[in-house]
Amino acid sequence: MQDTTERIALLTEEGLRAISSAKTESDLLDAKGRYFGKKGAISEFLKGVASLAVEERKRVGASANEARANLEAAFARKLEEIREGERKAREGLERIDVTLPGRAPPLGHRHPVSRTMAEIIAIFQRLGFSIHGGPEIEKDYYNFEALNIPKDHPARDMQDTFYIDWPGGDLVLRTHTSPIQIRAMEAMRPPLRVIAPGAVYRCDSDVTHSPMFHQVEGFAVDRSITMGDLKGLLNEFCGMMFGEGKPLRFRPSFFPFTEPSAEVDIRCVICDGSGCRVCQDSGWLEILGCGMIDPAVYGFVGYDPEEFTGFAFGMGVERIAMLRHGISDIRLFFENDPRFLSQF
Ligand code: PHE
Repeated sequence: MQDTTERIALLTEEGLRAISSAKTESDLLDAKGRYFGKKGAISEFLKGVASLAVEERKRVGASANEARANLEAAFARKLEEIREGERKAREGLERIDVTLPGRAPPLGHRHPVSRTMAEIIAIFQRLGFSIHGGPEIEKDYYNFEALNIPKDHPARDMQDTFYIDWPGGDLVLRTHTSPIQIRAMEAMRPPLRVIAPGAVYRCDSDVTHSPMFHQVEGFAVDRSITMGDLKGLLNEFCGMMFGEGKPLRFRPSFFPFTEPSAEVDIRCVICDGSGCRVCQDSGWLEILGCGMIDPAVYGFVGYDPEEFTGFAFGMGVERIAMLRHGISDIRLFFENDPRFLSQF
């Protein structure tokens, strides 16, 4: 009989060890199952002692019950310990450290193209110009025809155009802001001093051309406006935009809606004229097109070309931003990589 009691003591000892080494609730349940659950080792062992004498059976039963009670108690204590540990761990994770500095949400700022555009607009507003707008989906009439660019005229090839298939008539994504000249002149009588900023579209894409880009158009119509007024204005503008004292160069050019026409270069902002990669060793950078408004244009808006004269100019905003910041690829403006944008 000594054997029987010893056997129970041994199983109890093993069970207690399994309980005390349990790390989780499931380890603990596992130990219970193995030693003192309904099908555990102790129950199994009791089945085997059914043949003992009654007295003996009572004794063995009592010691088995005691063993079970001890194990249950140890089980309950360990369960509480494990749960308490888990609670503490959770509290540790959830604790709020009020001394930690806050996380500031990243702060955005205006896009370099928008900023350059705003600067250009601000300069002309100071010089007495007011803003006029027009649609980006434009009638062929405003984008070309009324600017003295008839249908099928080779001058249309100067601008690669997105034409829009539309039953209502000839529509294009405007290729420049010049159509706003026509819209403004239709809406107002001279004297006029207008700037027209906005997005324009051309079927064109490489390191210096993007299918969508921005222009600022400017024009003035009044009695006896001359090319001298245009040169004076652009000199003033470039001084404010690129710094005083940068010489300008007017090169004869052609636009169907200005006569005479010119392209304007500034002394290279990178090498100051000595020649570099950016200006292709010419010392000059082209920044805009301009000219005196062609009298033919006045015919489309009902102005008397004998009474009024005017000038117009148009510049690419991305191009000016590239020159000011030394950016060599126009596509960087539209990829919107924060590593690029955060530099401005
Ligand atoms: N609209 C012309 C262009 O986009 C630029 C321009 C504007 C030229 C006004 C002369 C006068 O190429």
